[in-house]
Amino acid sequence: MEKNISKNILITGGAGFIGSHVVRRFVNQYRDYHIFNLDALTYAGNLENLKDVEQATNYTFIKGDIVDTECINDLFSKNKFDGVIHLAAESHVDRSIANPLSFVRTNVLGTVNLLNASLELAKNNPNFLFYHISTDEVYGSLGEAGLFTETTPYDPNSPYSASKASSDHFVRAYGETYQLPYVISNCSNNYGPNQFPEKLIPLFINNIIQNKPLPVYGDGNYTRDWLYVKDHAQAIDLVFHHGKKGETYNIGGFNEWKNIDLAHLLCRLMDKKLNKKEGTSEKLITFVKDRPGHDLRYAIDASKINQELGWEPSVTFEGGLEKTIDWYFDNQEWLDHVTSGDYLEYYKKQYQA
Ligand code: NAD
Ligand code: DAU
Repeated sequence: MEKNISKNILITGGAGFIGSHVVRRFVNQYRDYHIFNLDALTYAGNLENLKDVEQATNYTFIKGDIVDTECINDLFSKNKFDGVIHLAAESHVDRSIANPLSFVRTNVLGTVNLLNASLELAKNNPNFLFYHISTDEVYGSLGEAGLFTETTPYDPNSPYSASKASSDHFVRAYGETYQLPYVISNCSNNYGPNQFPEKLIPLFINNIIQNKPLPVYGDGNYTRDWLYVKDHAQAIDLVFHHGKKGETYNIGGFNEWKNIDLAHLLCRLMDKKLNKKEGTSEKLITFVKDRPGHDLRYAIDASKINQELGWEPSVTFEGGLEKTIDWYFDNQEWLDHVTSGDYLEYYKKQYQA
């Protein structure tokens, strides 16, 4: 381990989509921090995401499950972390509908385990911070108008969002009850390199490459607010270093798209990329059975983080999508690896109906 380390930071879920971008950013920007990445390497975690930082002297990977109390307590007592950035979670709504208990296990029990272990460290370190990375889905669904603010009441509709709402509540409760210093951010839909191809954008890119149907749930008139993952990682950096303790920050892209319009945009960009006649990929769009409890619309008011911390997205949606498409084209091997095994079984079950 390097000398002159000013902080030991634990990032959980660092082998996943957003976590890998956060790990890379922290390892490269803060050479005086030691970054520990704790990840169970579920189907969604992949160390190939971090090939470029694995040799860094200020980085350590630990394979472990956040639900395993012994593993967590051991890790926390050996390494006096100054902060925890907690991203490890089961993250896919459709999987939560099929198997809610695994979401309670990881997202609720795992978070409480980390909170318990953090209490010990916070007792001896007034600068300790527990940062929970959460989602806008905890606020439930918007109608055609309005935005989620930090004071919007929680109203989760899916087992995934209920588990994230619960973990947010536990974090707040530990702040109130035990004075654990914490901060929470709730972000909208991320997209970009390394996202597992079960989520809308990488699924559609992969299916267009393979000439497979593009399953649009229901009538496709559901709206999401999309943010490029590196802009989220930058926001996380700002909140971790400058966020006010005990506060929540909403993070969003000011970038709402109906799913069906996004599907058409992706088809147009992919036709260009594949040198196909315009309209070719659109023929793959297939309307399928709706997701149960499907939230109509998410949209974030990100003015608090903008005004207090000066954050705003830096990547335009078209620019971000082009970078994302290029990344999936250049990383077919990554796609092949992550879409083998468990994923194939899941995919078959999901779309046979
Ligand atoms: P992801 O599914 O890509 O990655 C999750 C990571 O957590 C994986 O590396 C997985 O191996 C690890 N993990 C899962 N269970 C674990 C356990 N029991 N112990 C240790 N590690 C475990 O998820 P993501 O999309 O990168 O999301 C990361 C976080 O950000 C989640 O907490 C999610 O709720 C939140 N979030 C995601 C989005 C989004 O659009 N993807 C938006 C807002 C918030
Ligand atoms: O809002 C933040 C959340 O965004 C995160 O907390 C979650 O971890 C992340 O998975 C994401 O949740 P969504 O359910 O919004 O993302 P998903 O990519 O699964 O779906 C986006 C929209 O597209 C949603 O309205 C459902 C629809 N959809 C999705 C898939 C996978 C389809 O129409 N067809 C599909 O095949």
